[in-house]
Amino acid sequence: MNMYEIIKKKREGNQLSKEEINYFIENYTNGNIPDYQAAALLMAIYFKKMNKKETVNLTSAMLNSGEKINLTSIEGIKVDKHSTGGVGDKTTLVLGPLVAACGLPVAKMSGRGLGHTGGTLDKLEAIEGLDINLSKDKFISNVNKIKLAVAGQTANITPADKKLYALRDVTATVDNVSLIASSIMSKKLASGSDAIVLDVKVGSGAFMKDLDSAFELAKEMVDIGKGMDKDIIAIISDMDEPLGYAIGNALEVREAIETLKGNGPKDLLELTFVLGSRLLLLGKKVKTVEEGYKLLKTAIEDGSAFIKFKEFVKAQGGNVSQINNPELLPKASKVIELRAEKSGYINEMNAEEIGRCALVLGAGRETKESQIDISAGIILNKKKYDKVTKGEIIAYLHGNNDKKLIEALNRMKCIIKITKDNKKKKKLIYGIVDKNGTVNI
Ligand code: URA
Repeated sequence: MNMYEIIKKKREGNQLSKEEINYFIENYTNGNIPDYQAAALLMAIYFKKMNKKETVNLTSAMLNSGEKINLTSIEGIKVDKHSTGGVGDKTTLVLGPLVAACGLPVAKMSGRGLGHTGGTLDKLEAIEGLDINLSKDKFISNVNKIKLAVAGQTANITPADKKLYALRDVTATVDNVSLIASSIMSKKLASGSDAIVLDVKVGSGAFMKDLDSAFELAKEMVDIGKGMDKDIIAIISDMDEPLGYAIGNALEVREAIETLKGNGPKDLLELTFVLGSRLLLLGKKVKTVEEGYKLLKTAIEDGSAFIKFKEFVKAQGGNVSQINNPELLPKASKVIELRAEKSGYINEMNAEEIGRCALVLGAGRETKESQIDISAGIILNKKKYDKVTKGEIIAYLHGNNDKKLIEALNRMKCIIKITKDNKKKKKLIYGIVDKNGTVNI
């Protein structure tokens, strides 16, 4: 077998065999295949696509490239949730403690932000002292003790994905259904949970820009899980505008705290309840989705979800006084306002572009190596389709560098378009895909 023939075969649009896929993954992971050949194959896959069989084989090969976490020493059904990535998506910060407060063990492996999308680990690190590099034993004992742990993936899980994802990121080959599905599912399957709820984002701030490709990705991932005997469902949710009002690490922690206290944005709360009720159902804590909603609502109202968040922060070495008093979280030295230049309705608010403005402020990382400014970011005062009057504040930009603040402000002015037509709000949830098929909502 040689790499030249494999690239050529895919370039001609033919199906790669299991042996060829295994050969590529094994030899790319151990350094025998150079980046330029892997990049050529990725581009061929991007244009010629992979069928279901190839995608399943690619997922298995990546899953077997590293260690698999064994969570059997955690009692109960272990659940996990994964988002395909978005702007202002702080759902895990709310959902984790909320579901754990309902008695379900949450053993969550999270990632860092890259490009315009944020990452849970970066958000958590805005809390002073919070350690996301837990040892395997500590991770398991925290879930057994308080039902919740969130940690970064160890280097040994799916090393093939780590290398390939970095290569895809710089070769414009991220947004291919088979490559995304195998990347996410190999990591999720290696992380050892029994049940997984996937949040597949669709819209301007997501990798999947249209509904058809979002449903295709969801179906592909659910099918991979089905083939490997895992209970998986996928929710298709909107990412055409940022989720909630806050974008940026410390700012998102504050919004998550408010949400756990019952004062969160409507879209964030709704999404959390949709995902949470399905997690409770998969974890057999409830018999119906409605029962799940009730349990989640009670955990917010009686304060147990917020108490769980504080327990979690303490258990991972974080400064709980910042949670009791979010004023103590890192704050940017300057805040400037974006005001409406005319009256009307905000009919354009491209989520990816807003994520890129947050990047300009330093809230995210352009490359794996870049440093992030945990205090920087954006607080929206208006959401898509909201009415505004001339001079009203649309957003607050938080930053520590005048030049970057002005650049981000000028970009925001171009992104947000105010027109006269009063359009209807779009949906937040478009559908659910499970092992029995697809339900459009
Ligand atoms: N998230 C992942 O983990 N992998 C992808 O390919 C895309 C989003």
